Amino acid sequence: MRRALALATRGRWSAAPNPLVGAVLLDGDRVIAEGWHERPGSPHAEAACLGNLPLEATTGRTLVINLEPCAHQGRTPPCAELLVKRRIGRVIAAHADPDPRVAGRGFERLRSSGVDLAIGSLEHEARELNRHFLCRHERGRPWVTLKWAQSLDGLIALVQGRPTTLSGAASGLETHRLRAAHPGILVGIGTVLADDPLLDARHCPGGRAPRRFVIDPLGELPPGSRLVATARTQPLHLICGRQAAGRNLRQLERAGARIHILAVDGELPLEAVLETVLAAGVDGLLVEGGARVLGRFLQAGLVDEVLRITAPLALGTGLPAAAAPRPAGPTRWHLLSRRPVGSDEWETWRPATEED
Ligand SMILES: NC(=O)c1ccc[n+]([C@@H]2O[C@H](COP(=O)([O-])OP(=O)(O)OC[C@H]3O[C@@H](n4cnc5c(N)ncnc54)[C@H](OP(=O)(O)O)[C@@H]3O)[C@@H](O)[C@H]2O)c1
Repeated sequence: MRRALALATRGRWSAAPNPLVGAVLLDGDRVIAEGWHERPGSPHAEAACLGNLPLEATTGRTLVINLEPCAHQGRTPPCAELLVKRRIGRVIAAHADPDPRVAGRGFERLRSSGVDLAIGSLEHEARELNRHFLCRHERGRPWVTLKWAQSLDGLIALVQGRPTTLSGAASGLETHRLRAAHPGILVGIGTVLADDPLLDARHCPGGRAPRRFVIDPLGELPPGSRLVATARTQPLHLICGRQAAGRNLRQLERAGARIHILAVDGELPLEAVLETVLAAGVDGLLVEGGARVLGRFLQAGLVDEVLRITAPLALGTGLPAAAAPRPAGPTRWHLLSRRPVGSDEWETWRPATEED
């Protein structure tokens, strides 16, 4: 299963919105064939693994796979059917596929055809690998990762509305790798006005640039911004309120931006923002600030992970990392990892569960 997971990881920049899946065919302890799912429309891992092997090479063999084989006809034929046809004797899987078109039917097809089935191998690691995909199907919203860089004294900018360079070059490269691993990235209009960012992944060779989303309640995005200048090469979505109508939206649309107007005035409910993000095909969202956007996500409890980068520098005065319009109650967090990147420290936090 470790090998299957390693194979699955090869699709990390191309498989979305499909899950990452790897498969290994065994004859006893010997690996006969391997496969992985590369991109939507390309063969599923099972088909890639079995390829054109003759029936005698697959009959009675064991297939190890990190996700339940599919049971529906999509762009490719159902994999459970394929395994039965190829007379696979045993399937070792990490966990079920919550996609409503599968949801146990793949396992059922195997069982009812007499295939020996073992489910649960390295389940935690496998679920972790496909956390974006699983969040979409199990919670109906994208997985949300908040990321910010702060000073030693917890500030993200010296002056609100102006950019402050905090983290070092190594963190910059790591940030681009992180962006490439997320199908979507979101910031608030305050950050665009202050930093004029590109929000791309240009320093990650081979990486995919994320779809960009801006929370812009009043439609204030400057047509001359770098986001708009690159809207035709890297998708840009504006999420606005009703008050934005009649502003420069038509000009932005002509430049290639996609405009989503939520039927509200003032506060844009984050649930509706996330629905818009999901409808655009994004199930893993990296939220890069600024303070008021971060504060709102934390306040709403719509955060699956926080990546906090602390730079070896104290500002003394400035903008705190998260500023919510209403005070949020206390929440407990669990430290998943802490590691140095250049001279900065990267910490990953997750909401605490009862076991933490
Ligand atoms: N160090 C870092 O990692 C980092 C990252 C990004 C940005 N920054 C810095 O942070 C500063 C910008 O932060 P910021 O707080 O001013 O900007 P921001 O969070 O990017 O955007 C704030 C704006 O968006 C509006 N907004 C956000 N969520 C909304 C919602 N759900 N509904 C309606 N309106 C919403 C806010 O409205 P309200 O006025 O009603 O709150 C405000 O107008 C800059 O100085 C930038 O350099 C630092």
